[in-house]
Amino acid sequence: MRMLALAALLANGCLLSGSMATASDVTLKVAVQKPAHAISPRLVGVFFEDINFGADGGLSAELVKNGSFEFPRSLMGWSTVEPGATKGDVRVTEKDPAFSANPHYLRLATTESNRAPGVANEGFRGIGVRAGERYLFSTQARANGSTPGTLRVSLVAPDGKTLATAKVTGIGPEWSEHAAVLTPSATTAKAQLVLNATVPGNLDLDLVSLCPEETWKNRPHGLRNDLVQKLADLKPAFLRFPGGCIVEGSQLDRRYQWKTTIGDRAERKLIINRWNYEFAHRPTPDYFQSFGLGFFEYFQLAEDIGAEPLPILNCGMACQFNSGELVPLDELGPYIQDALDLIEFANGPATSPWGAKRAAMGHPEPFGMKLLGVGNEQWDQQYFDRYALFAKVLKERHPEIELVSGAGPFPADAHFKFAWPLLRALKADIVDEHCYAMPDWFLRSATRYDDYDRDGPKVFMGEYAAQSIDIVSPDNRNNLRCALAEAAFMTGLERNSDVVVMSSYAPLFAHEEAWQWRPNLIWFDNLTTYATPEYYVQQLFSLNRGDVVLPLELNDSRPPRPAAGRIGLATNGASAEFADLRVTRDGQTVFDGGMIADLAEMTTFRGNWQTKNGVIRQANERDTARAHFGDTKWQDYTLSLKARKLAGRQGFGVIVRNSDGGSYIQWNLGNGNKQHTLEAHLATHSVDDTTVARADGVLETNRWYDLKVELNGSHVRCYVDGKLVHDVDIPQPNLPRLFAAGSRELGSGQLILKIVNPTDEPTSVAFDLAGLEKVSPAAQAIVLAGGPEDENSLDHPDKVVPRESTVAIDGPQFEHTFAPNSMTVLRLDTN
Ligand code: AHR
Repeated sequence: MRMLALAALLANGCLLSGSMATASDVTLKVAVQKPAHAISPRLVGVFFEDINFGADGGLSAELVKNGSFEFPRSLMGWSTVEPGATKGDVRVTEKDPAFSANPHYLRLATTESNRAPGVANEGFRGIGVRAGERYLFSTQARANGSTPGTLRVSLVAPDGKTLATAKVTGIGPEWSEHAAVLTPSATTAKAQLVLNATVPGNLDLDLVSLCPEETWKNRPHGLRNDLVQKLADLKPAFLRFPGGCIVEGSQLDRRYQWKTTIGDRAERKLIINRWNYEFAHRPTPDYFQSFGLGFFEYFQLAEDIGAEPLPILNCGMACQFNSGELVPLDELGPYIQDALDLIEFANGPATSPWGAKRAAMGHPEPFGMKLLGVGNEQWDQQYFDRYALFAKVLKERHPEIELVSGAGPFPADAHFKFAWPLLRALKADIVDEHCYAMPDWFLRSATRYDDYDRDGPKVFMGEYAAQSIDIVSPDNRNNLRCALAEAAFMTGLERNSDVVVMSSYAPLFAHEEAWQWRPNLIWFDNLTTYATPEYYVQQLFSLNRGDVVLPLELNDSRPPRPAAGRIGLATNGASAEFADLRVTRDGQTVFDGGMIADLAEMTTFRGNWQTKNGVIRQANERDTARAHFGDTKWQDYTLSLKARKLAGRQGFGVIVRNSDGGSYIQWNLGNGNKQHTLEAHLATHSVDDTTVARADGVLETNRWYDLKVELNGSHVRCYVDGKLVHDVDIPQPNLPRLFAAGSRELGSGQLILKIVNPTDEPTSVAFDLAGLEKVSPAAQAIVLAGGPEDENSLDHPDKVVPRESTVAIDGPQFEHTFAPNSMTVLRLDTN
């Protein structure tokens, strides 16, 4: 029997929206004296990937971009400064370099006539500096003039004002390190670092670096304090690194190779970041991995924040969303050896070859790694063939290491279904599932693991996030609606933590001006950072986990919600125009498309949408695009409009019943130019078949069609030119409206209840702490609440934050009302 008996006693009827539930509507019984299984101590961790400038320009405190001049465009990030400098005075060369792994360096050639040629580094969308703080400049340098070389180093504000300056003197003819300290007089997020050679001769520079003196644990070239603090405050059980897709690389020679990321910084070899161009929401041509933050630093970071390290290694496959390049099975040896060597690097004695490298970096003690990932989100037989070879060797040589294997990018598609039986047969330890979907998917999936096989491999919900628009939409938001959908889902993870032993939200970090993916858990600019509502949900679960699950019985007798939702337009491989949009109900017009004067009134996904004189056009003939608008509370309406295809191979579509949580019905006309299909989308991005009805039908280009969709309860009727084409019943997904998890913390003896109310209604719940005779009259309540669209930002970092209070508890049977759009943690003393 599952731990939560979700007895949804839902009667038929009509909800008066906004009505408050009474105590008798929702009851929650907690089997306080009948604890179930232990909660996995690894349940809530973090997933780090160098995406969105998460490492270079983010966690790494290094402020200079391309300080080693190894970017393929070797002066990327740098510009020449100082009047008098001419071409040739500033160039990148590689003759007789300082470091063979980083052969390129900068040469500033100074003559009497071109006094002080120089360069400016732009940093990562600027260099963030604070007044009065110390910034440590260093460079490898050599000079071949008649007098020793001299370098002027300055921090310059966007208005041209010099904020700090220092002089490096005595630069000789051999490469050596030189340093200076800069203390800016003002704070700015957008300074530049300017370097000028000031005496005649050639001045060569390499590994130019500027770092704040104050870093996490004040390590030189360390990590950004404020960002690590955000991680530490989550108290994550594990740190997964270094990704994500960057583990795979867009092609094999761009994969992440941990051995080139350790040791002396000068020996670490720069590569292009997988998020530089391909498949990025927003391409970032200056995105490279310099590995200032490499595998040693990841292990060290995990240790610092009390998290178990979980490295993921390439399994001989490049990203299947990109080239999908494969290493032949009989050439996998070096990849498997990399895994064996990594185990030695992390856990071997300081006397072992790889353990010695760790010791040389300042950590003679082993890192105590117990988890290792083989491949990221790979799919198909080719993955399992490779995984099996890794597992055979690793299990023989290191049975103490638990292996994490992948189940593909989606939580229920064909790849996923193909993967699980194989992983079971392979006796996989922990299977990494991924899910990016819209909020409704998360609400619906709170029970996903209730029926998972308890005897098979364990699950790591390794990447997930609720997205307000769609998986690749740059318009996705980190709002409270998404956070609460995740919270609802997490009640299911906690309740099932005998099988779901680990979980992590993804991605973790994003630079406000340099991201490729949204949403993300933590945002930052060059000076500050803020946490999202999603972050606080993770934190509430992590800090209030409890040790054992308490079974719950939740009864919600409120009538189900009526079928309702917004309207929308779509194109599918065609450009099209839409006119005379009208929504009527009981003969009254509730919406007139002529009122859409401006695209801001629509939520669009892909496509080139335009609007003029009441006609809405999607002008890109190759795009699959959508535009949503109207009111999510609309029910029982008729949508009528005219539509015509302008160009393209397929057709257009009409959307109805689009909920806030991302579910909708889409009527596609002219599929393959031979069919009309009616699809029920359930807020997932998987390629599951969503078709509920089909009919023959073609679309002529440039011909206007009269379309009509009638909604009556769950009934949907679609007409083309007055002719009925589909007539079907599509029940509204009956999503739960309250979610709960119960646990006990063994140390404190406290009872912990997590209640998620993702609706707009305050909800009163009658609790029964079954088996208890007494409970302390005051409980601690921690509440995350607000409007569903509320977000935090750099300017308003505290708009949605958990707030603590004390609430009165009448006894083991008590009532409590939960705010609309809220997550509440109640901690009760029962001793
Ligand atoms: O988290 C962003 C990306 O999503 C990861 O790199 C990849 O594993 C997934 O597809």
